[in-house]
Amino acid sequence: MTASSLLEEISDVGRDPKRGGYSRHAFDAGETELRAWFVERAGRLGLGVETDRNGNIWAWWGTPGPDAVVTGSHLDSVPGGGAFDGPLGVASALDAVEILQAKGFRPAKPFAVAVFAEEEGGRFGVPCLGSRLLTGTIDADKARNLRDPDGVTFAEAAAKSGLDPARVGRDSERLGLIGRFLELHVEQGRGLIDLGSPIAVGNTVIAHGRWRFSFEGQGNHAGATLIGDRRDPMIPAAETVLAVRKLARTTADARATVGRLVPVPGGTNVIASTVDLWLDARVPGTDTPELVAEIAKLAEEAAGQEGCRVEVTRESYSDDVIFDDALRRDLGTWLGGPPELPTGAGHDAAILAGFVPSGMLYVRNPTGISHSPEEFSEAEDVDHGARALADALEKLST
Ligand code: GLV
Ligand code: MN
Ligand code: MN
Repeated sequence: MTASSLLEEISDVGRDPKRGGYSRHAFDAGETELRAWFVERAGRLGLGVETDRNGNIWAWWGTPGPDAVVTGSHLDSVPGGGAFDGPLGVASALDAVEILQAKGFRPAKPFAVAVFAEEEGGRFGVPCLGSRLLTGTIDADKARNLRDPDGVTFAEAAAKSGLDPARVGRDSERLGLIGRFLELHVEQGRGLIDLGSPIAVGNTVIAHGRWRFSFEGQGNHAGATLIGDRRDPMIPAAETVLAVRKLARTTADARATVGRLVPVPGGTNVIASTVDLWLDARVPGTDTPELVAEIAKLAEEAAGQEGCRVEVTRESYSDDVIFDDALRRDLGTWLGGPPELPTGAGHDAAILAGFVPSGMLYVRNPTGISHSPEEFSEAEDVDHGARALADALEKLST
């Protein structure tokens, strides 16, 4: 089946009627159904499927072994996300295997399609959790104790879905099997519209991280408490939102976002007792922590003025990544010289790039919008991308 028909086949799975788009999070009903779909589809291609101890799925074409050519992406989404971010890479990988099989190609090297767990961090907060665990980029205990918004730990959710939480963590043996990793992904900005090309080769990913700001004040009555008597944590939280925009604007090429703000208890006639605010900050080079430190300073000042306290916790951070030079050059040659594109989005390929030669292909998104239901790729471009992926995988595994 073509990648576009595979995407069509899963288009009803994990829809979010409240937010719009899809909410498919690690081990929830939608993501679990997609995992089962992947296992079934991979089985039809004769691939041998296994789930590793971190919840990543591996579908082997032939016998698993070292120097493997691995392709894949993820099946989870952000809350209310689009249909392409993640599943496009998985569907294209399945299509590429089918294209290669149809022409009688047999890989001369071990070959696998991988599906990484919790790439968006939409449930447990840390992005690329599956690939971070595989590579040991996150401490196993920290991962086990991550909690979803309902208080369920990653260890509990993993156990419920059949994993042994005690075995979660760096998997050197499996990591050692990967020779090269290539991820195909929907382009998440306007890059390819402006370049007039259906595909691009990824070159860099900018440094990015997530921080939680927990503001603590005094919960109280919205009518009975005079303004001067309040310690309302929403006030410094709101000032922090504005500081984020102001400071990001004055830092070259910075992107900084507050996309999640949770007042507790969250009642219209209740002054909140705490407000948690999550900051996503991304600056090329080494300046992200510096930008966050400036934001934290303003948050502390604002909290102090309202008689509140704020605690800032770093939840994840990744440095700038440059994808493998030789692989980029080869992809360019094999695919007829598509443009190279930097991205501000994080990817499992960028985590793996610290350990094995890795690369990315992007497929044009005519809306230039992502992490939203409006994320899109034309079927023609989707299938073009899958054929390009097949060409690249054929060269890599010959
Ligand atoms: C993943 O898509 C991210 O960059 O947040
Ligand atoms: Mn994403
Ligand atoms: Mn993605």
